[in-house]
Amino acid sequence: MPEVLTGNFGHSETSNMKEAVSAKMSIESPAVLKLPVEGERGRRLAALKDKFTAEYSHSPQFYVRAPGRVNLIGEHIDYCGYAVFPIAVEQDILMAVAANTSGKLNLCNMDLCYPPFSCDISSFQVDRSKAAWHNYVLCGILGIREEGGVTGALTGLDVAVSGNIPPSSGLSSSSALVCAAALATAYAHKRTLAKDTLAELCARCERHVGTQGGGMDQAIAFLANVDTAKLIEFNPLRATSVPLPPGATFVVANSLAPINKAATSHFNCRVMECRLATKIMAKRAGLPWEKYQRLGELQVALGKTLPEMVEMVGEVLEKRLYSKQESVLSENTRDIQEFNLYDRALHVYSEANRVWEFHDVCKKDGPGALERLGSLMLASHRSTQHLYQCSHPKLDTLVELSQGIALGARLTGAGWGGCMVALVEEEKVEEYKKKLEQDFYSQEPAAKGRDIKTVLFSTQPGPAACVYI
Ligand code: GLA
Repeated sequence: MPEVLTGNFGHSETSNMKEAVSAKMSIESPAVLKLPVEGERGRRLAALKDKFTAEYSHSPQFYVRAPGRVNLIGEHIDYCGYAVFPIAVEQDILMAVAANTSGKLNLCNMDLCYPPFSCDISSFQVDRSKAAWHNYVLCGILGIREEGGVTGALTGLDVAVSGNIPPSSGLSSSSALVCAAALATAYAHKRTLAKDTLAELCARCERHVGTQGGGMDQAIAFLANVDTAKLIEFNPLRATSVPLPPGATFVVANSLAPINKAATSHFNCRVMECRLATKIMAKRAGLPWEKYQRLGELQVALGKTLPEMVEMVGEVLEKRLYSKQESVLSENTRDIQEFNLYDRALHVYSEANRVWEFHDVCKKDGPGALERLGSLMLASHRSTQHLYQCSHPKLDTLVELSQGIALGARLTGAGWGGCMVALVEEEKVEEYKKKLEQDFYSQEPAAKGRDIKTVLFSTQPGPAACVYI
């Protein structure tokens, strides 16, 4: 475990550990830790330092880390206002950073697939017409520029990036980049921001790339804790630690079908379908429908339970496609002709209910708890597959192969490719991995030449974003 220097990144306080840790804000701000020198992370940080020094001819002043995440249950409901259940993973984005006097942002990446980039740090705009990696860094900086409370122009920054979250795999590599960039910019400008403020700011600024995501990925990046999953609730943002029942492990399997949610209209189309369903249901209930954007707000206004909302979907929405003319359109969804409101709303309300059931089973941890969690995960997958239609044939294959050996399995993240997460009894983990290796990866052309440990791995809840000095 890295040594905690202070939880507050007011620079002057790093020498006074006790006072900093006892201050209220210090508990709520990302930790400032001693730079790890050992293990895999220590090696990556040392290589990152070398890259930084070679590129910019001076040393980094500090480093930041932001983790990826696996969502255990609660998919595509955060942007409807509903609670989700993620853990942070070990895989992360690391940044080495130093201020410069040129007013420029200079970026380079350990992975040469991601080309270097430079711009004026105080006047850039995010060009959403290009799916460039640096856009996510720009979003994070923009978040601090717009909402971080920095007075005057931003200081120029030299930044080197190292990432080991598999990209386009639904493990939130993009949001980790946004969160790391925002944290680095805040720290470089001596801005001490609470974790929840950073999380909300990052959720908003990531929308500069054009995707209307919810706040799950950024929330878990800043609010995660080792050894516990988090129930993340929104409006206002809250994170509650929920211990997982012992005896089982979460195994992540990458379908190797890449997903880039900013490059297609799928994601925004779902957000729009949920918004439209909200408006139609609000109108039918005699509410001022123009005011309502989220299925969650509608439930609060109606004072109904989630099962009652599921019933209401059946009463109000028709099981047919709604036409473009019936819709309120936004950029990125204008070329979509038809919207499936019934299935989408049904998924959201029933998935939101499953999250609470999952939470209650974890809390009670009685006999059969693991089996119950597994069946909730499978029900969640079926709902994303058939109602939300955001799965992928390869994800479905992985879920089918998991039957009978894992307790449950489901897609995780946005879907349309990316990863599956399975709940597996500890004594069966090796057997399970072997089965997927033989029955899936050995026949998957995209797996050729890849280290199996990077596509199929067990995972535990890891820590939140931090600064290293
Ligand atoms: C993406 C978004 C999240 C969430 C998931 C689906 O990761 O960034 O906000 O909507 O998809 O659950």
